[in-house]
Amino acid sequence: MSTAETIYLDNHATTRCDPRVVEALVPMLVENYGNVSSRTHAVGRAAAEAYEAAIASLAADLGCTSDELLITSGATESNNLAILGFCLHPRQRRRHVITVASEHSAVLDPVAVLEKSGFRVTRLPVIPQGHREAGRVDLDRLHDALDDDTALVSIMQANNEIGVLHDLAPIAELCHARGAVLHSDATQAIGRVRIDVEQLGVDLASGSAHKLYGPKGVGLLYVRRRGRRIRLRPEIVGGGQQQGLRSGTLNSPGTVAFAAALRICVEGFPDEPQRIGELTERLWQRLSSRIEGVQLNGPERAPELRLAGNLNVCFPDIEGAALMAATPQVALSSGSACSATDPNPSHVLLALGLSEAEARRTLRFGVGRFNTESEIDQAVEALAESHQRLKKQFR
Ligand SMILES: Cc1ncc(COP(=O)(O)O)c(C=O)c1O
Repeated sequence: MSTAETIYLDNHATTRCDPRVVEALVPMLVENYGNVSSRTHAVGRAAAEAYEAAIASLAADLGCTSDELLITSGATESNNLAILGFCLHPRQRRRHVITVASEHSAVLDPVAVLEKSGFRVTRLPVIPQGHREAGRVDLDRLHDALDDDTALVSIMQANNEIGVLHDLAPIAELCHARGAVLHSDATQAIGRVRIDVEQLGVDLASGSAHKLYGPKGVGLLYVRRRGRRIRLRPEIVGGGQQQGLRSGTLNSPGTVAFAAALRICVEGFPDEPQRIGELTERLWQRLSSRIEGVQLNGPERAPELRLAGNLNVCFPDIEGAALMAATPQVALSSGSACSATDPNPSHVLLALGLSEAEARRTLRFGVGRFNTESEIDQAVEALAESHQRLKKQFR
């Protein structure tokens, strides 16, 4: 099956680079290729100008200032820098970290590193399946977990499997009332929902260009400077770029592409999420009418609770892996791309209270910018046929 023939419904794993982003990127490789730090000549200065304009554009679209953004290699690095960099700063005295059981491994793993080095860690449960807000954290639980030793709370803005949106503003208030700092992995939210870091009240936020129709290998970390100044220990040292917090030659092509990608998303609000939401609704309605007994995992499909393009569906009788193998013309996943080869059932679904068997019968759909109604209809037909065929085989 060639990639051109595939119906791509795995937009939480990554997205196709938008041609308009490619148009912004290519001149940065072939014409404007200078090193941003080479201010001694016109080639370097031209690159610096483009880089700075891109940073200013990203900052404007996220509600922060240019000096509050660091450019990284992706959200994994941003999460590591936020969590380890903040907690392991020499002036950090607090030794307790709070996160949520359903976070991405790019948060859970650095938190586990802290635990091994002596930090106390609280992993909050989520509201279970069957509730309107399934997948969110219970604010009373967060309130009770916070204490005067809590350095950092890390709660994602949108979950990569069930699309649940956490309500960050009241979470930030609770954290700040106890003197704790809030980091949010906003990787799945940036470009999909409007973001203003000031309104959300977050102190650190991670993002990645490849989730919003930009290239792979470029991410960002928002680090608050206004009001509470956040101090980080650099995780990568070298040439001292980016205030010494993240050394390495500045990724000017990636940054320009990232800024172009986010601009397109922001210009597309609210129409694009609306259109993607309608396609997703069509997908859900058709799936439920063609395959009896499908169940939606996670929160209710409401714009304030769930990403517009997300469906997480538990199928009756047949495992997700078998359904995917029988339907190669549709690109889907059973959960996070990082755990695509992991035979264990999704920790996010287990955190929701699903059984291992239910988790194994689940597939994640991520509808995106380039999907069409006809693709949705074809994908449902293909999946329904495979489901029926497999059911007969296993009978
Ligand atoms: C919520 C979340 N955090 C972090 C990451 C890692 O991002 P990156 O691929 O940019 O390192 C992903 C991507 O899979 C994600 O969905």
